[in-house]
Amino acid sequence: MAKGYIDIHSHILYETDDGSGSIEETIKIIKALMEAGFSTSYATPHNIPGNDTSALLSKSKDKIRKISEVLEKQNIGYGIYTGAENYFDASLNIKNPGEYFIPLGNSDIFLVEIPFIGESLHHIDALHKSGLRCIIAHVERYMDIVQNPDKVHRLKQAGFIIQMNFGSLIGVYGFDVMKTALYLLKEDMIDVMATDIHDIHHADIILKKGLKRLETLVNPATLLKVLKERPHTILTVGYEKPNAQSNDNNS
Ligand SMILES: [Fe+2]
Repeated sequence: MAKGYIDIHSHILYETDDGSGSIEETIKIIKALMEAGFSTSYATPHNIPGNDTSALLSKSKDKIRKISEVLEKQNIGYGIYTGAENYFDASLNIKNPGEYFIPLGNSDIFLVEIPFIGESLHHIDALHKSGLRCIIAHVERYMDIVQNPDKVHRLKQAGFIIQMNFGSLIGVYGFDVMKTALYLLKEDMIDVMATDIHDIHHADIILKKGLKRLETLVNPATLLKVLKERPHTILTVGYEKPNAQSNDNNS
């Protein structure tokens, strides 16, 4: 049943990366998302430095158009927008990540993934200097955040939006990540929940178990905030650029 949930992180574009394998699988995933209450997805294939960004974007638009045509034929209304899971690594000395980053839809907000191993604040600091408005993808999965989840406070103070995966709440990425996810949720450090859905099997697990788990952990108002209100506000109204002074002296 549609509750207007918005998924800002997904790999629903068929034959694009490690996501959906076919248009038929994509349609099945979208139907599962709708059943879980979603009405909008941002398709966020992996985008890495050196990629031909405009080619990725144009392929994405083409696939979204083809998916929408199939949905329309079945009288299904579902919003799909472009986006990317942009990879950023400070050690690559990327001068201007905005040159290859793809935003979420028509916004100027970027979903960003950093390396899983190492000091996350090192990467975040470099990203912060770019002045771009960013959502940090699945923050609970980075190893140093697992070791010290309170570091997320610094990311929030610096103005980054914090995204968590449903799957983390049910141990899809291991026990330690689950423990971190539960802690971050309890401490109210999560701005947005998303599926990071890759295939129909993944959809069954994270939508039937992960979303249910979230429903037992937070009250209905918080559920609506992290799945609908917050993503809607961020993507339509935007938010202030990170304060350049607030993330100084991170280490
Ligand atoms: Fe992802």
